[in-house]
Amino acid sequence: MEKTIVITGGAGFIGSHLVRRLVNKYPNYQIINVDALTYAGNLQNLSDIENKPNYTFVKADIANEQEIEKLFDLHKIDGVIHLAAESHVDRSITDPMAFIRTNIVGTTILLNAVKKHWNGNFEGKRFYHISTDEVYGSLNSTSGQFTEETSYDPRSPYSASKASSDHLVRAYYHTYGLPIVISNCSNNYGPNQFPEKLIPLAINNIKNKKTIPIYGKGENIRDWLYVEDHAAAIDTIFHHAKIGETYNIGGNNEWKNIDLIRLLCKILDKKLVRNQGESEKLITFVKDRAGHDLRYAIDSSKLQHNLGWNPSLNFEEGLEKTVDWYLNNETWLNEIVSGNYQRYYEQQYGNR
Ligand code: NAD
Ligand code: DAU
Repeated sequence: MEKTIVITGGAGFIGSHLVRRLVNKYPNYQIINVDALTYAGNLQNLSDIENKPNYTFVKADIANEQEIEKLFDLHKIDGVIHLAAESHVDRSITDPMAFIRTNIVGTTILLNAVKKHWNGNFEGKRFYHISTDEVYGSLNSTSGQFTEETSYDPRSPYSASKASSDHLVRAYYHTYGLPIVISNCSNNYGPNQFPEKLIPLAINNIKNKKTIPIYGKGENIRDWLYVEDHAAAIDTIFHHAKIGETYNIGGNNEWKNIDLIRLLCKILDKKLVRNQGESEKLITFVKDRAGHDLRYAIDSSKLQHNLGWNPSLNFEEGLEKTVDWYLNNETWLNEIVSGNYQRYYEQQYGNR
């Protein structure tokens, strides 16, 4: 094998798309998916590639030093692409400590492990930290975008924990010379997203004729990117970025929540052969999220100009693909609702 790459959080939404891409595209890389399989981790996301010879799954908690030490003792690791995180803003409001533990302590444990095991020999090595546009805070008007120079101003326990982890990654670059790269991406959507997030939650509720909860007045704006375009950007950055650099990733695709949900309702009315306007009746305005950031918008021109990445899908195409995937993968959704997806690990991997 040419390289051994650890991907943390590979059983989650974005991680599983990235693992599949790298396993299929680089047969001479050994890809090790390191995931604790929290509620958000689902190995069924990777059932199509789990028997490939260049793929290994290791169940480990990044916030457990012994488990991470064991991983680095057993494998000669050339690169880490770090996605494992608590990722849902609403959960961070009710349980901030889980976010501190995984996102801050877990990231630092990984940094310490690479620092110790690479031991100053950084030739061909890379620690790539996947972060979010939420570290930049909230844009309060309809103009302006976050650039790589925008000051950090996180406002939720989730974004504050991600901002802390970004700072630690940069600190290990400046202090110890670790070969790091960071990217900050906007909202992802697509297949395999856990149905607690807006788009899959709305698809599932519309399908089941349940109300669609819209926080506040639905005026908040997000910049949406198809998950496979994010995976492609990560692939490009991992291979071509300059060490120590930060890259913003976004779709240049801003939508007010209410407009996005109305579009989803239209698409689903058509696909489910319902009268146009039927699903919109499910929209229900509910109490706003505490500290709800008004608007995110990403300027990804540095990545586009310097490394040649561009989003490949427009939003309507991406949403159609996403809706089709959820409608055609009822078992995946039902297994999540029933909790059965969490037994997949024991069934496939036994007591390893
Ligand atoms: P996700 O919640 O779907 O998946 C997270 C994965 O991490 C899960 O498989 C989970 O089991 C694993 N994990 C959690 N805690 C762990 C721990 N202590 N040790 C090992 N594994 C653990 O998340 P996602 O939406 O795929 O996001 C992945 C990364 O991308 C995160 O770092 C997130 O901050 C970042 N990000 C997400 C988005 C988005 O829109 N979803 C946008 C920008 C950046
Ligand atoms: O911007 C990148 C971030 O995008 C990532 O870092 C996070 O991991 C990811 O979860 C996402 O955060 P958001 O909070 O923007 O995503 P979420 O899907 O939870 O919400 C999108 C918008 O929809 C937000 O304005 C809140 C609103 N919303 C959300 C839910 C779940 C609702 O109105 N109703 C809902 O039920």
